[in-house]
Amino acid sequence: MNSPAANRPAFDLIRGHVTASTFAALDMTGSLDRLAERGLSVEEAGSNRFLSEGLFRYLSQRGVLYLEGDRYHLTETGRSLYEDRGYLVWLAGGYSEPLRRFGDLLTGQATYRKEVLRDGKWVAVGSALLGKKDVQPEVVKLMSDLEFSRVADIGCGNAHFLITLHDQLGCSGLGVDISPEAVEEARREIDAAGKSAHIDTVVADGSDISSIQGLEDVDLAVTFFFLHEVYEKGFDALVDYLRQLAARLPAGAHVLTAEVTATPSSTRTDDVFGPEFALVHSVMGQYLLDEDGWRRAFTEAGLTVKAMVRPAMPDGLLVLAQKNA
Ligand SMILES: C[S@@+](CC[C@H](N)C(=O)[O-])C[C@H]1O[C@@H](n2cnc3c(N)ncnc32)[C@H](O)[C@@H]1O
Repeated sequence: MNSPAANRPAFDLIRGHVTASTFAALDMTGSLDRLAERGLSVEEAGSNRFLSEGLFRYLSQRGVLYLEGDRYHLTETGRSLYEDRGYLVWLAGGYSEPLRRFGDLLTGQATYRKEVLRDGKWVAVGSALLGKKDVQPEVVKLMSDLEFSRVADIGCGNAHFLITLHDQLGCSGLGVDISPEAVEEARREIDAAGKSAHIDTVVADGSDISSIQGLEDVDLAVTFFFLHEVYEKGFDALVDYLRQLAARLPAGAHVLTAEVTATPSSTRTDDVFGPEFALVHSVMGQYLLDEDGWRRAFTEAGLTVKAMVRPAMPDGLLVLAQKNA
C-alpha cells in the first residue's frame, strides 16, 4: 500500500527546502567543515541547545546525519550534499529574501534593488565554493597553455580565484566587485592568506569599463558569472562591453568567462540546474544567453574564441578568447 504521502510532491519540496536551508546554515555558521572532518556534538553546533538537538534529529531523520557516540557524522547522502554545499549556500544564503518576496516582486508591490535585494556576501561565498569544485578544474586545464603575470577578476566575489592563482602561479591580481559585502569578504580572505601585497581589490561597477583602473597592465581578464549582469542591458550592450574591455587590454591578452547557459524556453527540460538559475536571475531582470550567443558576442567584439568548454557545473560554460597580438 502506498504511504499517505506517496504521489504528493509538495512534501518532497518542503523536505528539500528545509534540508537545503538548514544544511546551508551549518556551513554559514562555520560548523559544516568540522562536521565533515570529525563529526560534531550538539553542543558544538550552536548555543541554542534545543534548536541544535532539533536540527540534528531532523537531519538524521532525513538520512543526512547519523549518531556515533556523542557526535553526529555525515551519511553518504550528507557527504554528497557537503560536496555540493556551494549551490545550497548560493541559494539559501544568497536568494532566500528575493524568493520569499517573490509575490511582491511579481505584483509590483516591491521592486528588486529598491525594497528587495539578494545577499551579496553569501552569493559570493556560495559561488566560490561551487566554482572551486565544478569550474576550477576545467579552468586550470584551459589556462595551462597561457602566459600571464597579472589577472583582473571582474565580479570577483570573495576573490578566491585570485588567491588560488597567486598560490599556484605567483601572479598578481586585481579584484573588482560592485558589492561592498563581497569586497569586504574578499579583503578578509586576502589578509588571512597573507596576500595583501599581491592582490588589490576595489568596489566598482565592473560593467563600466572606464571605472576599472589598470586594465592596461593585465594579460588575463576573468569574468566568472558576471557577464550576464551586462547582458541585462541587451546583446548589443554586451558586445560593446567586450569591445571596450578588449580595447583596454594589451595585445595578445586573454579573456576567460564562466557562465550558465540558457536552456530552451517553453519546453520541458531535464536540466538539473539551468531553469532554476535562470528564474533566480529573472528576479533581477536578467536573462541568460545560449552557447551560440556567447560565441557570437565575443566574436562580434573582435575577440578570437579559442575554446568553449563545458565544466562539471550543470549548464555551465567556459569561454576562452584572445585579443589579437
Ligand atoms: C555569482 S557571483 C560570482 C563571484 C565570483 N566571480 C565567483 O565565481 O565566485 C557574481 C559577482 O558579481 C558581482 N557583480 C554583480 N554586478 C556587478 C557589477 N556591475 N560590477 C562588479 N561586480 C558585479 C556580484 O556582487 C557578485 O560578487
